[in-house]
Amino acid sequence: MSILITGGAGFIGTHTARLLNGAGLDVVILDNAPSGLREDLRLGTFVPGDVADEALVRSTIRDHAVTAVIHLAASAHIAESMQRPDLYFANNVGATYNLLNAMCAENATEFIFASTCAVYGDSDTSALREDKAPAPVSPYGESKLQIERALQWYETAFGLRWAVLRYFNVAGAEPGLGEDISSSRRIIPRTVNCVLNSETPLSVFGTSFPTPDGSAVRDYVHVSDVARANLQALRYIQRGQSGALLNIASGVGTSVLEIIDAVTEQTGKQVPFDTRRGRPGDPAYVVADVSEAQKVIGWSPSESTIEKLVTSVIESVVSRE
Ligand SMILES: NC(=O)c1ccc[n+]([C@@H]2O[C@H](COP(=O)([O-])OP(=O)(O)OC[C@H]3O[C@@H](n4cnc5c(N)ncnc54)[C@H](O)[C@@H]3O)[C@@H](O)[C@H]2O)c1
Repeated sequence: MSILITGGAGFIGTHTARLLNGAGLDVVILDNAPSGLREDLRLGTFVPGDVADEALVRSTIRDHAVTAVIHLAASAHIAESMQRPDLYFANNVGATYNLLNAMCAENATEFIFASTCAVYGDSDTSALREDKAPAPVSPYGESKLQIERALQWYETAFGLRWAVLRYFNVAGAEPGLGEDISSSRRIIPRTVNCVLNSETPLSVFGTSFPTPDGSAVRDYVHVSDVARANLQALRYIQRGQSGALLNIASGVGTSVLEIIDAVTEQTGKQVPFDTRRGRPGDPAYVVADVSEAQKVIGWSPSESTIEKLVTSVIESVVSRE
């Protein structure tokens, strides 16, 4: 019996695979990343390929006796999705239907879906609860919502058991699994990179949002906490339950300017930055209520303070050198 992690060569996938391996589970990773999977990390059996390839998914499920799928493979950049909605609907919706159809045909009916806070769209300054009506403002958010909505129909027709995890802004890193900060699109690695490596200032997109300091406020959750949420959601499904819809977040809002302050404090160096207009599809304030995840799968964040997040990124740079 094994667990298939799609997109398991990526940022959240490698951390999730490491945790599942440590918990004694057999992990199979399906990913189309051109650079493949780092073998030295021993994260699981690697199957190079695309989620949209139904025949490959079916043979992978059969060959490895897969019972459950943690579906992380996706295109995941809001700004890019505004330019190329076609790619986002093809990869995040079309390929996910191929995966679900392959799973149901092979009778592998346990499914954890990586969704996103982008399904909520714009919000006021209250914490977002899962029962808020979703209203995505980007093709990325819309693509994830379409799959969320399909799952109950797959449950009714094919007996799929599922959990939807709406990750907020995933950040931080574990030793050996950090990203290349010089090419990362995430705000904390980019800010650390500006201080440690680069002459180029950080671009702060939007300074006139209706937030206390005018910069965008987000809810940053440590990738180790997200990996643990995936494992706890898997346990929930394995107990025979289904239908969880959960925010996975810290429950705390942090602005871009507060991140800059935290990086300055921990490195002792000023972060050079310039300010730009806000990007289309970027809401002002996105912060979660995380009480439902505690109730349903017994999960709450433990590593997701801004101090720990920044430290872990700095340490992951050191540990890669
Ligand atoms: N990182 C975040 O802040 C965040 C927030 C909310 C939701 N999510 C969701 O979590 C998931 C993982 O995100 P991540 O940050 O690890 O992204 P990532 O880009 O680091 O990893 C995604 C992986 O999926 C693979 N992939 C993409 N399309 C594929 C396909 N069709 N077939 C096979 N492999 C494919 C990529 O090669 C990559 O290795 C995504 O579904 C994303 O939407 C991430």
